[in-house]
Amino acid sequence: SSSSDVELRSPVICIMGHVDTGKTKLLDKIRKTNVQEGEAGGITQQIGATFFPDIALQEQTKKVGTDFELEVPGVLIIDTPGHESFNNLRMRGSSLADLAILVIDIMHGLEPQTVESLELLKKRKCPFIIALNKIDILYEWNSKPYTSIQEALERQEQSVRDEFQTRFQNVVLQLNERGLNCNLYWENDDFRTAVSIVPTSALTGEGVPDLLYMILKLTQDLMADKLEVQEELECTVIEVKNIEGLGTTVDVVLLNGTLREGDQIVLAGLGGPIVTTIRALLTPQPMKEMRVKRLCLMCVSPKNEYVTHKQISTSMGIKISAPGLEDAVAGTELLVVGPDDDIEELKEDESILNDFEKEPAGVYVKASTLGSLEALLSFLQDMKIPVFDDKFTKYMEKFRESQKTETRKVAVFPVVLQIDKQHIFRKQDPIILGCQVVGGQLRVGTPLCIPDKGNLAIGH
Ligand code: GTP
Ligand code: MG
Ligand code: NA
Repeated sequence: SSSSDVELRSPVICIMGHVDTGKTKLLDKIRKTNVQEGEAGGITQQIGATFFPDIALQEQTKKVGTDFELEVPGVLIIDTPGHESFNNLRMRGSSLADLAILVIDIMHGLEPQTVESLELLKKRKCPFIIALNKIDILYEWNSKPYTSIQEALERQEQSVRDEFQTRFQNVVLQLNERGLNCNLYWENDDFRTAVSIVPTSALTGEGVPDLLYMILKLTQDLMADKLEVQEELECTVIEVKNIEGLGTTVDVVLLNGTLREGDQIVLAGLGGPIVTTIRALLTPQPMKEMRVKRLCLMCVSPKNEYVTHKQISTSMGIKISAPGLEDAVAGTELLVVGPDDDIEELKEDESILNDFEKEPAGVYVKASTLGSLEALLSFLQDMKIPVFDDKFTKYMEKFRESQKTETRKVAVFPVVLQIDKQHIFRKQDPIILGCQVVGGQLRVGTPLCIPDKGNLAIGH
C-alpha cells in the first residue's frame, strides 16, 4: 500500500441485504452496543450512520493482519433496512458508498432483497464484499467471541466444518448462477474479479475482525485515489428528523469538503429549495449511531447526546440544526453558498420533482420519519391504494403534527390490520394510519382517527 503524504478521508461503507440477515446486529457487534434490540419489531426503518474511529479499528484488525497499516482516519458505516418497502433507503445508502457489505444469512442463502441489492450494486458499479452471517447457528458451533474467522473455523469439529463447507458451497453456487465469481477472502487471489466472502457471526463477533480488515484493505489498496481528500463539498442529506430541543434537523453524510457553523446552505425542500444558515453542527459521541431512539430523547437532552463542532471536514455523519428545515427532503445534495455563488443558481439545482401520485380522495399517511413515509407511500402506490392529497404539504402538516404528538402510541394498539390486495377499507375513507414493520411484513396499523369525525374506536 502507498505511504505517501496524501491525506485520505474515511471510506463510506453501506451495509445491505435481505431483512433479518443481521445487518444491524453486525454493526452493533462492532460497536458493542445494542441498537438492534431497541428497534420496533427488530426492523431497521431508517438509515443510520456510525463513525468508527481508527483506534476502534486497530484493535480488531490486528487480530487478522499484524503487518496491516491503517491509513484512513476511520470508516463511516451506513446501515440500511432490508424490508422490501425500503428500496428508496437502500438506493440512498448504496449511492453514497465507496464499498458495500452485502449480508447473506448462511442458513437461508440468497433471498429476494439479496438479489435486489446485488442489482443495485451492479447498477451503481459499487464494489462490495459479502458477509456470510450467522455461522454460529451451524450445529454444535463452538464459539470464542471476536476471533478471526480462520481461527474460529479451525477450532470446530470436522462435522461443523463439513456443514460450513456444504452451506458455503451452496451460496457460492447461487451467486455463480447470477454471474458472480466469489471466494473466501483468504483464498481470493484477485479482489478485482472475484467478490470476497467473509463468514461472520453477529452474535459472537467471530469474523468481525476480518470484516473490518477487508473493508480497510480493499478501500486503502484499491481506492486510495477516490479517498484522497477533496476540498469541493460533497454532502448528502440522509434523514430529516425532529429532535426535541433542536426542532427539525437534517442528518447528512459529508463525503468531501468542509461545513462550518454559520455557513449559508441550500437544500431541497418539498415546497421548493430551502436557503438557511447552519446553527449547529452536531455529531454523536464516537461509535454511537446518529439514529437516536425516540425513547432515548425522552430522558437524554440533546446536549448530552451530541458533540458540537465549529467546523467539520470529510466522511462524517453529521446532524445539522438550522431554522426552516421542516420540508427538507432526504436523498438530495446539500450545497454551501460560497462568496462567489449565485443563490438563485444553487436553488435551481435543488428543485425536486414529486414522484408520488395523489388523489383527491384516499388515505392519509403518517410515519415517524420521512424515510418510512416515503416507503409507505410507494407501498400504497404499488397496492393501488389512493393517497389523499390537496397538496403534498398536507402530508407534511400531518407528519409534523405527528412528530409533536405521541407517535409511539401507534405501536401499542392491539389491533393490526394488514393491507393486502383486497382493500380493507373503503376507498373514499380519509383515515390516518399508523405504519409498522413486524416480522418482515409491512403492516398498516389501526386507524387512529377520521379527520373531522373525531376519534375512531379501535378495531374499526
Ligand atoms: P433489517 O434491518 O430489518 O433488514 O434486519 P437486519 O438485517 O438488520 O437484521 P437484525 O440485525 O435485525 O437481526 C435479525 C435477527 O437475527 C435478530 O433476532 C438477531 O438477533 C438475529 N441475528 C443477527 N445476526 C445473527 C447471528 O450472526 N447469529 C445469530 N444466531 N443470530 C443473529
Ligand atoms: Mg437492521
Ligand atoms: Na431485523
